[in-house]
Amino acid sequence: MEIIIQPTPEAASTVAARIVARRIEQKPNVVLGLATGNTPLQLYRELVQRKLDWRKVTTFNLDEYVGLSPDHPASYHHLMWENLFGHVNIAKENIHIPDGLAKDIPAFCQRYEEAIRSAGGIDLQMLGIGADGHIGFNEPSSSLASRTRIKTLTSRTRADNAPLFGDTAHVPHHVITMGIGTIMDAQQILILAFGETKAQAIADAVEGPVTSMNPASVLQMHAGVRVILDEAAASRLTKADYYRWVYENKPHWQRF
Ligand code: PGA
Repeated sequence: MEIIIQPTPEAASTVAARIVARRIEQKPNVVLGLATGNTPLQLYRELVQRKLDWRKVTTFNLDEYVGLSPDHPASYHHLMWENLFGHVNIAKENIHIPDGLAKDIPAFCQRYEEAIRSAGGIDLQMLGIGADGHIGFNEPSSSLASRTRIKTLTSRTRADNAPLFGDTAHVPHHVITMGIGTIMDAQQILILAFGETKAQAIADAVEGPVTSMNPASVLQMHAGVRVILDEAAASRLTKADYYRWVYENKPHWQRF
């Protein structure tokens, strides 16, 4: 894992945007895995400002709430169009987001997996992390080999995600999420975390044992992961000084 600690969420988002932008420039038909929630919003704003060419880019979003239509203001479809897709020249047919209204959820999930495979797999997957260590909506106890499927949110995640719904009672219990095995198949992964509320989940994911109790810890088994943090999210890492030194002393050819 490469741990990159930046002073602020803005600075961390800029590092992430540079990595994503370079990937799009190097491979115009890149396949991106996209995350939602609050964490990647500044990254998306920066990508929009960079005026990249998205015409050949294909995207797969991690997750969506079951029962929400694409135009529901709290749906991840809505979030993605408001914050990214509506502002870049991506082809609509290249956008994939789990369908919260799918009638046959297992069949939909199988097709989603097949679509990722037939696009050639995900080149670069962006992730946030839940305060409980979830990636996508793979809550603690998720199989580390899981594929796209329906999951049930924990009460903590429903409370954390309540603001867009007005009240926790309105947050759906069920979601469709890429599995941990699906995420692990990506060639490269960027995981972003900002703020004190993520500090323990990050410390457990980066420096703790690999365990389904902190699903992000599985990323220790992936050879191409960058963990991009602000100071607050890094505040419980015991080896933070080492990670800072490594980043600040990277040879020129490894910089981005
Ligand atoms: P957040 O959610 O970015 O809104 O904190 C992250 C996540 O749950 O993965």
